[in-house]
Amino acid sequence: DYVYICQNETVYGTRYTHLPETGDIPLVSDVSSMFLSEPVDVSKYGLIYGGVQKNVGPAGVVIVIVRDDLIREDVLPFTPTIMRYKTQADAGSLSNTPPAYGIYVCGLVFKWLKEQGGLEAIQKRNQEKAALLYGYLDQSKLFSGTAQKEFRSLMNVPFVTGDADLDAKFIAEAKTRGLESLKGHRSVGGMRASIYNAMPREGVEALVAFMEEFEKNNA
Ligand SMILES: Cc1ncc(COP(=O)(O)O)c(C=O)c1O
Repeated sequence: DYVYICQNETVYGTRYTHLPETGDIPLVSDVSSMFLSEPVDVSKYGLIYGGVQKNVGPAGVVIVIVRDDLIREDVLPFTPTIMRYKTQADAGSLSNTPPAYGIYVCGLVFKWLKEQGGLEAIQKRNQEKAALLYGYLDQSKLFSGTAQKEFRSLMNVPFVTGDADLDAKFIAEAKTRGLESLKGHRSVGGMRASIYNAMPREGVEALVAFMEEFEKNNA
């Protein structure tokens, strides 16, 4: 009935670089961890959805972009009202009391994005940030990126030293330098740098500088 993808996956740090060709079958994409990190051609999808908590605003708001013909009344009977797109669309997304403060903050972020030059400019910045980190990883003798090169995420960069004790030492020392939340997802271990829109280039530069220093001291 539909093809579902998770377009950017945060645990392994992978992404779809090209969308699957699904013909008449609607493509449904979870874009939670890459929404507004680059321009998007919404006409290629049946439905795009995502939690806003990565690039857009505070947790508690969800964005859904759904093709008109997929907004239907004949949903499964146990579908909660809040998840009935017809109900939401008919009510202008106001069928329930919306989280107004969270939406207000998203509005501020939309304005900020425009001031930055829009999604093309943000994409360029994100590509440069990711290139900086992957470029370092590719020549490092201590650290290596774990995702296949072709499918590397621009948002989440997982990497390892190959030694769990050394990984733990790196994470602990990084924290003392103000480099926070570098621990990889519990299911895979290692490290993960999440470099969403809000992470400035300077943050990535500081991480790479510390990685160089750590590599020198732990060769
Ligand atoms: C692609 C993707 N989908 C879903 C989720 C889960 O979102 P939530 O914590 O709101 O369930 C996340 C992030 O946590 C994500 O990156």
